[in-house]
Amino acid sequence: MREVAVIGTGMTKFGELWGQSLRDLFVEAALGAMESAGADTLDSIYVGSMSSGLFVGQEHIGPLVADHLGMRGVPATRVESACASGGMAIRSAFFEVASGASDLVLAAGVEKMNDGADVTGVLATASDQEEEVYYGVTFPGLYAMIARAHMTAHGTTEEDLSWVSVKAHRNGAKNPKAQFRREVSLEEVMSSSLVAEPLRLLHCSPVTDGAAAVLLCPLERAKEFTDRPVKILASGAATSSLALAQRPDPAYLDVVELSGRRAYQMAGIGPEDIDLVEVHDCFAIAEICCVEALGFLEWGDGGRGAREGITDLGGRIPVNVSGGLKSKGHPVGATGVAQAVTVVEQLRGEAGEQQVEGARIGMAQNMGGSGASSVVHIFQGV
Ligand code: COA
Repeated sequence: MREVAVIGTGMTKFGELWGQSLRDLFVEAALGAMESAGADTLDSIYVGSMSSGLFVGQEHIGPLVADHLGMRGVPATRVESACASGGMAIRSAFFEVASGASDLVLAAGVEKMNDGADVTGVLATASDQEEEVYYGVTFPGLYAMIARAHMTAHGTTEEDLSWVSVKAHRNGAKNPKAQFRREVSLEEVMSSSLVAEPLRLLHCSPVTDGAAAVLLCPLERAKEFTDRPVKILASGAATSSLALAQRPDPAYLDVVELSGRRAYQMAGIGPEDIDLVEVHDCFAIAEICCVEALGFLEWGDGGRGAREGITDLGGRIPVNVSGGLKSKGHPVGATGVAQAVTVVEQLRGEAGEQQVEGARIGMAQNMGGSGASSVVHIFQGV
């Protein structure tokens, strides 16, 4: 396999973007990635989108986005793995470049969630139709069950969950592209309205429109496009049962542990070598479970991360310096690519106020459903 580098990044603002359509969002992010690398051709495009059909009535978006980017004729494939669609698009692009089949491959993600669809119903299609949706389950409901299981098994508290949100909003307030650019206090989080007990409004990621893109090429050609390429050290992916009830322990995200282990093995490093990580905090409890499964805190001890400042910017392992899904926003199919954009900017030293000093190796972990799919990428500045 050839070594692969990220040579360009692009991202729209995240939020309720009434003035831009799905295709507009994709084009803005894709052009950003291409222009930042000075590239005007592509060999191939992968676009992650969870449910463009149900959100805006548009399937078959590969050719659509290629055409609107001015790249008619270029092969373009949609990738779907629920909220992990963006990360899986990067994985597809990575292997296409690594295999030697293509040189310039764009991996993007896009979602337009605020166009009037029944968002909760559309998102629920990523859970098990026969075992969960039929009984009225929603994603806030599933993650509430994960939170309750974690609290019961490990003594995690509502306050632990709330510190995750306080940290997310503190970081997101500094991110010009974030949906919510305001800090929140612990009291505000703990008194926000209940969504699915014990999860409150400020423990949940929001409903978001947005797109992000990264441009990949072989590492040996990267300096033709940028002085600061970022190497992709590893891509690890895994699956688990779609239905939460089929897992031995609902508080343990085995899919994250497996995808992380595969990425660590491929990179030949461990959690102690990672300088920052973006994890899939679709709900505050998910961040707690993910930092445990990736080996940054002991199993059952994830609640300490935000509460004790271990996961703060400046802490032992900064987690979600972008604001995470909670504050930056969660346009589901775009999220995995936006995480990669954050990590790449950090490794290039371009993160301004949110810069992790001396960051050399970063990780992005993107998850689908209630923990049925997960993909982990490890990046290194070169
Ligand atoms: N965090 C912070 N504020 C939020 C928010 C969130 N997650 N969601 C909405 N708000 C704010 C809105 O900006 C609005 O503020 P305003 O009154 O100052 O304008 C207010 O709360 C009400 O917004 P509204 O859109 O009516 O909220 P809602 O009750 O319809 O939706 C949730 C709230 C939590 C149900 C919704 O954001 C949600 O479903 N989130 C989870 C998404 C999800 O499941 N993603 C997939 C994960 S696997």
